[in-house]
Amino acid sequence: MEQSQFSERLRQAMGKAHLKQADLVRMAAERGEKLGKSQLSQYVSGKVTPRREALGTLAGLLGVPAEWLAGQQDVAAAKPRVQVQVHTERERTMREFKKSSKLDHVLYDVRGPVVDEAARMEAEGERILKLNIGNPAPFGFRTPDEVVKDMRQQLTECEGYSDSRGLFSARKAIMQYSQVKGLPNVQMEHIYTGNGVSELIQLSMHALLDDGDEILIPSPDYPLWTACATLAGGHPVHYLCDEQADWYPDIADMESKISDRTKALVIINPNNPTGAVYPREVLEQIVEVARRHQLMIFSDEIYDRLCMDGVEHVSIASLAPDLPCVTFSGLSKSHMIAGYRIGWMVLSGNTRCMSDFLLGVNMLSNMRLCSNVPAQSIVQTALGGYQSVETYVRPGGRVCDQRDFVYRALNEIDGITAVKPKAAFYIFPKIDAKKFNIHDDEQFALDLLHEKKILVTRGGGFNWEQPDHFRVVYLPRMEVLAECMDDLADFLSTYHQD
Ligand SMILES: Cc1ncc(COP(=O)(O)O)c(C=O)c1O
Repeated sequence: MEQSQFSERLRQAMGKAHLKQADLVRMAAERGEKLGKSQLSQYVSGKVTPRREALGTLAGLLGVPAEWLAGQQDVAAAKPRVQVQVHTERERTMREFKKSSKLDHVLYDVRGPVVDEAARMEAEGERILKLNIGNPAPFGFRTPDEVVKDMRQQLTECEGYSDSRGLFSARKAIMQYSQVKGLPNVQMEHIYTGNGVSELIQLSMHALLDDGDEILIPSPDYPLWTACATLAGGHPVHYLCDEQADWYPDIADMESKISDRTKALVIINPNNPTGAVYPREVLEQIVEVARRHQLMIFSDEIYDRLCMDGVEHVSIASLAPDLPCVTFSGLSKSHMIAGYRIGWMVLSGNTRCMSDFLLGVNMLSNMRLCSNVPAQSIVQTALGGYQSVETYVRPGGRVCDQRDFVYRALNEIDGITAVKPKAAFYIFPKIDAKKFNIHDDEQFALDLLHEKKILVTRGGGFNWEQPDHFRVVYLPRMEVLAECMDDLADFLSTYHQD
């Protein structure tokens, strides 16, 4: 970066944005970014050029591309990309609005600080290889044509609110799907559609948990469960899933964590982030625990149609006709329509003992009026007939082949071991924390991001306590995965945390 050109462009951008040096220093402080008064004056006078981080800060404050500021692009690129916010005196004296303290202990790192850093790098023009989010559409997984066509055809009939639980046709199809999976005692009024499973996880946790009530949640988990239980005032207690036993729940650990405040247990089967699918015997043991301690069972089965290697998915509710069970699923993953927002929950088994909980669920369901009606309108189409997802998960299909490749490639890296996933599109490898001296998994993810531009999610983001795991989403195409695995191997060949 040439010094005089940099200072010229800096002054030019400051002029365009009507910002003085003091404004920039103040704005940086307000954003929690570092920019000293004398440091800035040296940049403006052309005595010093900034390092990358300060360059990014300046570019962000001025709303210009960092490359242009650094002298790499032509002047045309200097048009501000974002509206520069200049705070007036009145705005500055306004009282501050803080987020509610209810959020203090809520963790949702799948979209956390490492992702923010990746977004900042992307805004600066870097290409980031994203192995962090289970959203099939951007990776070329297409929604079946019939689903799109049927939604289009029904759009004009979906303009009003539906019944708060959902359209009759959608719930009937979900009921039939539940019957095929052997869920006992399912009635139409016990089926609720939601804006994704996500909304229903939140709704059901609010309906069930009083302050301090305990709920057993797996570690590692899909972190929305822990976040929603916490937000509802409950106390999530994590039971271990055992990597040595194909990541199945450790039943002894689960039972040892039950107290007289425990109301329910959650399983995620097939599992995110491990890709495990629980066999019938393991599910029977979990049912026994729930039976002994009179617990409700919540089972998140959103990946039930993405099983590989001929593994059969068994719904735990089918094994527990005498217990209160809530089973969750949806179309985000099986039909690659995560953006349409459609999921459901089905109450089954002993619904008598859930009657008061049901009143709470109804109240909350009514309060949100209904879930997205156009998305409900295609549930019947999606659940019936030919299931295109099967072509992805059989040998030769993209999901299966990419799983095989990533599993092999990870295990070939010195210092990494990984259990083979049986479903979904996640793998949760173990890093030899001793070998690499890893004591902070967020730092590991940041270092990998900065050095190789690869974005993964740290194990801690899934309520895994040790800093020795991370999650890889193997949805990107094979060429991208191959590049990532090579880069990861190269990164780890010298990595050592301070
Ligand atoms: C285990 C699990 N449950 C629920 C969800 C949320 O799904 P939906 O798109 O239906 O809200 C996800 C999304 O990644 C998930 O992995």
